Amino acid sequence: MDPHARATLRDVPAYVPGNRPLARGEGLAPLAHLASNENPLGPSPLALEALARASSQWARYPDDHCADLREALAARLGVPTECLAVGAGSSGLLKLLAEAYLEPGRTVVYAWPTFPMYRIVARLQEAVEVPVPLDGDGRHDLARMAEAARRASLVVVCNPNNPTGTYVSEAELVAFLGQVPEDALVVLDEAYAEFARAAAPDYPDSVRWVREGRRVAVLRSFSKVYGLAGLRVGYLVAPPEVVEAVGRARVPFPVCAPAQVAALAALADEAHVGRTLQVVAEGRRRLQQLAGQLGLPSYPSVANFVWLDVGRPAEQVAAELLRRGVLVRPGPIGTTWLRVSVGTPEELSRFEGALRQVLAAAG
Ligand SMILES: Cc1ncc(COP(=O)(O)O)c(C=O)c1O
Repeated sequence: MDPHARATLRDVPAYVPGNRPLARGEGLAPLAHLASNENPLGPSPLALEALARASSQWARYPDDHCADLREALAARLGVPTECLAVGAGSSGLLKLLAEAYLEPGRTVVYAWPTFPMYRIVARLQEAVEVPVPLDGDGRHDLARMAEAARRASLVVVCNPNNPTGTYVSEAELVAFLGQVPEDALVVLDEAYAEFARAAAPDYPDSVRWVREGRRVAVLRSFSKVYGLAGLRVGYLVAPPEVVEAVGRARVPFPVCAPAQVAALAALADEAHVGRTLQVVAEGRRRLQQLAGQLGLPSYPSVANFVWLDVGRPAEQVAAELLRRGVLVRPGPIGTTWLRVSVGTPEELSRFEGALRQVLAAAG
């Protein structure tokens, strides 16, 4: 790295995308894409039609304020448009939140292990980090997080948590919010909310807290249930003053026109969302059954992925699976845990066959 760049950058871990071998053209083109928790059914057909119809617009700059999409989201969620920001993926908005609320000497609290972007954006801001280990059930340790939150500017709850797939319930979150000081902003990363809501009746209705004026920022994504990961679009629901603060940190035209057009159409495509939820619920059940049959420990996921202990170095198992056309996500180096996204039934059959072979060969 350039020695003249900020020294801080040496401490910022690189984000390793799950589709790295694909993107770099290395190795086999996988036949089962189970590494990035995308929608196995692809984008909504209505989004594809809307994109085709709008293609003559691409020479123009997009709407800087994403007004149509914000209005549609506001109507859907029952909040004023001032409570909504749209960004280049929910991770783009997460970075803006960090830029708006973190700086040297300010503290951010998050669980660990979790989505690695919290660590990355905190390091970029040179903030004080308090990673709180998950409890023995792979769940957020909210008592310890609330304790640490007394000194925090930001507290991030990944709900459901990536990579474990475990979730924090409405009652647990109500109790937690009661313990966190009002001046700490609680960020609820709900990239997988739609799957969790379908799986767990006590998954929180967190937008309610924004309606009630609580300092809560909810992050959602069009990359998962809406199948638009390649277009990079996500949204933030938060009190107007938080949306305004985040807006100060952004670049002009942060969300490209195709992303706005596709997201608006995908939001209205309830049939596609319904089909996706059904395929994911069935596939998740199947992965959990497979883990049980093979005696591999796993957590009770409510998301579109399962975190499995394969009992041998996960990097090696992932490399063996890739040789058999299956792309999964190993945990950090040295771990025996793998994250497997729920794919189509065909992708899951391929994964099952490959995993059985790899585990049998390892003895
Ligand atoms: C917990 C969590 N938050 C955010 C994201 C990023 O979503 P987006 O594609 O909207 O940036 C992911 C993606 O894997 C995730 O797992």
